Amino acid sequence: MTREHTNLTTTDAGIPVESDEHSLTVGPGGPILLQDSYLIEQMAQFNRERVPERQPHAKGSGAFGRFEVTDDVSAYTKAALFQPGTKTELVIRFSTVAGERGSPDTWRDPRGFAIKFYTSEGTYDMVGNNTPVFFVKDPLKFQHFIRSQKRRADNNLRDHDMQWDFWTLSPESAHQVTWLMGDRGIPRTWRHMNGYSSHTYLWINAAGERFWVKYHFKTDQGIEHFTQDEADQMASADTDYHTRDLFEAIERGEYPTWTLYMQIMPFDDAPGYRFNPFDLTKVWPHSDYPLIRVGRMTLDRNPTDYHTEIEQAAFEPNNLVPGIGPSPDRMLLGRLFSYADAHRYRIGPNYKQLPVNASTSPVNSYSKDGPMRYEKVSDPVYAPNSKGGPAADTERYGLPPSWYTDGAIMRSAYVSHDEDDDWGQAGTLVREVLDDAARDRLVHNVVGHLLNNVTEPVLRRAFEYWRKVDGRIGERIESGVRAKQDERDPKAAEQANPARSDMQAKA
Ligand code: NDP
Ligand code: HEM
Repeated sequence: MTREHTNLTTTDAGIPVESDEHSLTVGPGGPILLQDSYLIEQMAQFNRERVPERQPHAKGSGAFGRFEVTDDVSAYTKAALFQPGTKTELVIRFSTVAGERGSPDTWRDPRGFAIKFYTSEGTYDMVGNNTPVFFVKDPLKFQHFIRSQKRRADNNLRDHDMQWDFWTLSPESAHQVTWLMGDRGIPRTWRHMNGYSSHTYLWINAAGERFWVKYHFKTDQGIEHFTQDEADQMASADTDYHTRDLFEAIERGEYPTWTLYMQIMPFDDAPGYRFNPFDLTKVWPHSDYPLIRVGRMTLDRNPTDYHTEIEQAAFEPNNLVPGIGPSPDRMLLGRLFSYADAHRYRIGPNYKQLPVNASTSPVNSYSKDGPMRYEKVSDPVYAPNSKGGPAADTERYGLPPSWYTDGAIMRSAYVSHDEDDDWGQAGTLVREVLDDAARDRLVHNVVGHLLNNVTEPVLRRAFEYWRKVDGRIGERIESGVRAKQDERDPKAAEQANPARSDMQAKA
């Protein structure tokens, strides 16, 4: 029987509390009493409200919605969620990478684009970004890259010198850095940006044929960006601008949508392709592998409890469903370990039982016990068994989408394909995709970034880096920085770079 007064304040044990305002004391002027267990519960629970923030991608928010297949791609994958007419519920989380949980939404940074699909064959996570490439291509460098974007050890400040030091010593970063310093480095809202798998994945169809694929979620709202100045102003006017924009758009009934397109490469094209198709610092030009439409994602429901539905949402690229597998991209292979490890630490080993993370198709795993477990397990608790416990169907699911490999154990760079180099695609972006106004903004953004505390010899390496991306852009960046240095402190500028007058004269 439920109690009459349904909106009564209670303790966490459901016991009616005596007051919302006054602690239990000895007389009106006396001390509080340890037996005020409601007061103690409030204080203790409060002290435990925060879970550790995500290491990267700490600031973000998200929404719920669905993915609807509009076109037939069953020739490429047997994945249930991509079969014609299928609708799949999902949660998405957008984020920035380097800032902490309270940091401004409009800082220049890639944006996370993490989707959890609740499919009929288990949970599928597509954990991508709003950029088609990344800064590094070996998981050994990821941790170092993120540290260089976060805070120094001594003064706990973010530091452009550290960022450019890492980037200029890691030339594979050039394509992503060019992308980041351009207009798309600060989207106007999360609704006005694309999402990419960035990585290559493997799709396999019902006949067992394999394809290398890349995902492109193109915004139906159109691409819009903030200039650096607009973003700086917004960072102080409304730190949570992107979070607010998404929430309010959905509240208004303006449901944002994205159309999913795939690039699909026949399995045997990979070895002879002009770029290494598994190198995360490269795109596949659309002229080589055109976009093939798959369906539409719509977001139409806001979270009602940010903590349980978004902060504790646990995305992991290793959640791959039948019909979808990894590729030899080393970054992706590293990520297949890293995320679930982070969740076990950040949320706890039974994080998959939380409603936002729970599979909507039946879970028959042999995992058991552990802290905060509440889903009951039943005997038998081992396999194989002759007691009617779950049994794997190896005939149907025996081999995940995979490829053949062999060779000596080594530490090496990627196999280089004909047109692989660190600068080519970044140069194409500058010369063939950006127009004059976008190139001017790129120069303005890089000059402003470099003038913020970047010191020699890093600065000189940065000029060299940009000259390799594009000779003209490199010259413009160097002369832009040197001119400002001259204005600020002519003597110091002369000492730092005696050749600058010649160089400025040439530019
Ligand atoms: P295309 O001309 O076919 O495509 C150019 C791509 O660039 C489009 O996807 C476009 O996105 C995107 N783009 C437009 N403006 C910018 C910008 N300011 N910053 C970043 N991207 C932008 O050429 P290719 O496929 O041959 O690629 C040429 C270059 O374009 C690549 O080297 C890469 O730097 C960049 N690019 C390529 C992508 C790919 O998957 N092939 C994806 C994104 C960028 P949209 O159509 O949404 O406006
Ligand atoms: C978040 C590791 C590369 C996209 C995270 C987190 C870790 C991590 C530990 C925090 C997870 C959590 O606490 O919930 C790594 C490693 C990488 C890598 C080791 C490379 C080896 C990438 C790449 C992309 C990406 C290439 C995009 C293509 C994301 C996104 C999130 C995230 C979107 C936030 C997910 C969310 O919203 O909860 N990453 N990452 N990461 N990463 Fe990566």
